[in-house]
Amino acid sequence: MDAIVLSRYGPPEVLELRDVPKPEPKEDEVLVRVRSSAVNDWDWCFVRGKPLIYRLMFGMRRPKVSILGVEVSGTVEAVGAGVTRFRPGDDVYGDISEAGFGGFAEFVCVREDALVRKPADMTFEQAAALPHAAMLAYQGLVEVGRIREGERILINGAGGGVGTIGVQIAKRYGAEVTGVDRGFKLDILRRVGFDHVIDFEKEDFTASGQRYDLILDTKTIRSPSRYLGSLHKGGRYVTVGGHLPRLLQAVTIGPLVGRLRGKRVRVVALKPNKDLGYVNEMFETHGIECVIDGPYPLREVPRALRHFGEAKHVGKIVITVAP
Ligand SMILES: NC(=O)c1ccc[n+]([C@@H]2O[C@H](COP(=O)([O-])OP(=O)(O)OC[C@H]3O[C@@H](n4cnc5c(N)ncnc54)[C@H](OP(=O)(O)O)[C@@H]3O)[C@@H](O)[C@H]2O)c1
Repeated sequence: MDAIVLSRYGPPEVLELRDVPKPEPKEDEVLVRVRSSAVNDWDWCFVRGKPLIYRLMFGMRRPKVSILGVEVSGTVEAVGAGVTRFRPGDDVYGDISEAGFGGFAEFVCVREDALVRKPADMTFEQAAALPHAAMLAYQGLVEVGRIREGERILINGAGGGVGTIGVQIAKRYGAEVTGVDRGFKLDILRRVGFDHVIDFEKEDFTASGQRYDLILDTKTIRSPSRYLGSLHKGGRYVTVGGHLPRLLQAVTIGPLVGRLRGKRVRVVALKPNKDLGYVNEMFETHGIECVIDGPYPLREVPRALRHFGEAKHVGKIVITVAP
């Protein structure tokens, strides 16, 4: 089968399209014929082995995982003897970051608990764009952020996967939502439902004097105190990612600093796929607009990764593995 193979850390161009053996499912695994995959922060960090934590987890000198790609959609081709939830022919999707990676290939073997059934009206491209970003957005806003009806919400780093799905979840709660990102993404942000948009290169939202009930951050770059100043009393600051030293501050001193000021600081630890049932229900009842950059063919994964790393993408970069 065709696969994009990683044999050493480096720039995206170290990735090579190769012919490799088709995998065989173990007892608890499903063999998926991959239709689409999506580029993720995991892939960008993994290929370069940066930050160092990736090397600590996946091999100091050489990567132990050879095929990247954490979000997949496709069709079940075969199942192991112990698989109970799927049959050949089922259309599925999921986040396989805790199931061995491998989405940048024509076939992948995955534990069945890393997949859910794809709604019939959801395209394979949409299904690949959703699992990781939608779970971070849902868990950040709903589970950890405890979003309430009619709140004022700000999403920082709004033009990526999390923000463009997050606004659509927030709108189900009647929220008034502000999105912060680069100027060239602001029209798209308005289109997917943001009521207000801020260009972070022109304006620092933490210095504007505006206050919110909930801030969801995908790009934490400031200290918890700075963000707390933009929250109403009782407000919540929830981060899903950002600069490591700032995230460490949010985990360590954030909760205490927050409590002293009558607010909360929380960090989301993603539970992959856990609430994809909510996403399917939302898609089937209201529809979800997936902002897709691409799709790119499989052989162009290195170009797509570079596009991601150079911060030129909007929404999710999708790879079409089999049209
Ligand atoms: N919590 C967990 O368990 C967990 C698990 C996996 C991943 N993550 C993290 O979750 C996040 C995923 O979010 P995503 O997929 O939506 O990311 P994304 O696609 O990279 O989107 C982030 C957006 O923020 C913009 N941005 C860059 N600098 C900014 C700034 N200073 N202020 C405001 N916006 C800025 C980016 O623009 P440019 O691209 O143009 O710079 C981009 O549009 C990542 O941080 C990832 O590391 C968390």
